[in-house]
Amino acid sequence: MSETLIIDGKAVAASVTDEISARAQRLLDEAGVKPGLAVILVGADPASQVYVRNKGKMAEKCGFNSIQHTLNADTSEEDLLKLIEELNADKAVHGILVQLPLPKHIDEGKVLNLLKPEKDVDGFHPVNVGLLGAGQSDKALVPCTPAGSVLLAKRALGADLSGKNAVIVGRSNIVGKPVAQLLLQENCTVTIAHSRTQDLPDVVRRADIVVAAVGRPKFIQGDWIKKGATVIDVGINRIPAPEKSEGKTRLVGDVDFEASLPNAAAITPVPGGVGPMTIAMLMANTLTAARRQNGLSEEPALF
Ligand code: GUN
Repeated sequence: MSETLIIDGKAVAASVTDEISARAQRLLDEAGVKPGLAVILVGADPASQVYVRNKGKMAEKCGFNSIQHTLNADTSEEDLLKLIEELNADKAVHGILVQLPLPKHIDEGKVLNLLKPEKDVDGFHPVNVGLLGAGQSDKALVPCTPAGSVLLAKRALGADLSGKNAVIVGRSNIVGKPVAQLLLQENCTVTIAHSRTQDLPDVVRRADIVVAAVGRPKFIQGDWIKKGATVIDVGINRIPAPEKSEGKTRLVGDVDFEASLPNAAAITPVPGGVGPMTIAMLMANTLTAARRQNGLSEEPALF
């Protein structure tokens, strides 16, 4: 029998969105402001369609205005940039999210750089990246999946992560790099490992906190996990599940969950771990953006 804590991301996300709903209601009552979130999807990637639909649904549940723009896969870069300019200028829109990846003919950097930093609820604009890197995350919009990952780590380990060895596997702009910044701010000793890292299993074995964000199913093996470590699995990989029946699939993380249970003190499951936190933190960012754009004070940090 394992006594590993399975971190319930769904429950933590629900407590975050409950709090955001209450804060949104207060914002409406006290200042007449209803947060507005615009989500842009270009193309018809099935996974992206699900994410975008869920973001819209949660925005409505939190009492926000949810605006969705679904554009054909062959939409020109110029038309997308024009839409972003319109949303940048729209006072009822406080948050803008462009679902990634974009079709190959569109320059992602150009699109993200055009977003008004104060409406960039994904936290991908260079201004927000820079503020986070400069230790001014109180003025930034912080990327959602990294913020949710750190919140879950704190749920398992308590608020003080000082001195912990954190190993992040993956160096993407969306997850690996910003998680590293956030954990550094929490006084962790941070290592970013990636596909060229030598002796990766040994690097991971030193970690008190493992953040897996490589995008490869069950890549991190159970015997790489130090006894007592906390494992935050950001991966969402769809793999064949012939055991269910012919042609069926299932979701797994970047960590071999079952094989990690004997070693990990706490681990996030996939699904039901980091995934729900991403949407919850998006709601938090949208509310923060709406308050700042109306000159209102910051609310206390979430939990
Ligand atoms: N695609 C995968 N993850 C994300 C995310 O966090 N934000 C956006 N906009 N697109 C994504």
